[in-house]
Amino acid sequence: MTKKFYQLLPSERLAQLVADGKITSAMQQELEKTMLDEEIANHLIENQISEFPVPLGVALNLIVNRKEYLVPLATEEPSVVAACSNGSKMAAASGGFTSEMATKDLRGQIVLMSVKNPEVIQIKIEQNQAEIFEQAKNSYPSIVKRGGGLKKVSVRTFPEDPSFVSVDFIMDTKDAMGANMMNTMLEGVANLFRTWFDEEILFSILSNYATEAIVTTRCLIPFEQLDRHKGREVAQKIAAASTYAQLDPYRAATHNKGIMNGVEALVLATGNDTRAFSAAAHAYAARSGRYRGLSCWTVSEEGLQGELSLPLALGTVGGATKVLPKAQVAFKMLNVTSAKELAEVASAVGLAQNLAALRALVSEGIQKGHMSLQARSLAISVGATGDEVQKVADRLNQGLMNEANARQYLAELR
Ligand code: MEV
Repeated sequence: MTKKFYQLLPSERLAQLVADGKITSAMQQELEKTMLDEEIANHLIENQISEFPVPLGVALNLIVNRKEYLVPLATEEPSVVAACSNGSKMAAASGGFTSEMATKDLRGQIVLMSVKNPEVIQIKIEQNQAEIFEQAKNSYPSIVKRGGGLKKVSVRTFPEDPSFVSVDFIMDTKDAMGANMMNTMLEGVANLFRTWFDEEILFSILSNYATEAIVTTRCLIPFEQLDRHKGREVAQKIAAASTYAQLDPYRAATHNKGIMNGVEALVLATGNDTRAFSAAAHAYAARSGRYRGLSCWTVSEEGLQGELSLPLALGTVGGATKVLPKAQVAFKMLNVTSAKELAEVASAVGLAQNLAALRALVSEGIQKGHMSLQARSLAISVGATGDEVQKVADRLNQGLMNEANARQYLAELR
């Protein structure tokens, strides 16, 4: 019997794609270049045929809660690592960032539909808490043994459509992000609910809107760090840019994208779920009903003060964090001892990144720094190698930066 595509080895899948005329042999050759152990890659996802490497950089100068960190950042975008180091250096002049995470819990939901009387559900949940906690514990006993587990159960209703009820569960998942343990626990409790309620359970799933895992980071940037002569003026413009990001969602998205540049790169480098984080961050940015900038900068007598709050339900154990060898190295490099500490560092990375972007935007403009780094990508894209890359990039930086010029400069070099 011929095997199904998903049953083949990655090399066999590639061969089949070539045989079927779906990819060329040249594409196959490129896709065959891999680093990860086949066992790991093939088991992490379905129909695996190759890998997609992105550069891993390290940002320097980051101090959070008086501890210095080497920050691994996985990103394809030039200037992200430099911006993080640069923003961190400005903050380091006054001792770095302080980050605080009050709780690191995960929320999950069991959603009931076609509810006739939400109050009946609410009362039943309130009066039978012990049984719910017992069922939750039996559904995932190991987290309770590690000192975590279910902390709270409550009910939310929706006046605009009272036929839906969400039973919300708050769980301490310790150093794991906790998606799997939450979902397992919810499905266990859903079985209990089926014996209680006639209403149908629509779904049982964690919520990525991690409002029980908020980290707040603050910093004070001495004026002279922003500009030796016009530091106060630059600070005032950064504060104005952050005010503007509260007003205009078009700008807020870009403002927040700058924050995400750093945080997502760290989230990816540590094998955490980038989509979960970005979904949470953007939902949080819209918590007032309007999408706003996530950070806030104000000017005081001492300097420029920054504050950023982010939902960061990250893990240092479990899932890809343990499986991907590079994520393990990233953790060793970072030297964090808990998921809470990782989140505190990640939030500081976001504020550093935002600071560097805003400083550049309101002073010399983003293109100066950005384009000098983009020039190297452009040089590589036209075939420059070795020391040709910098030589072509230097000439591009002096003139018009486009592909035709890059090709011409490379040809002249050779
Ligand atoms: C580019 O990747 C990020 C920025 O656009 C962020 C910002 O505008 O604040 C520079």
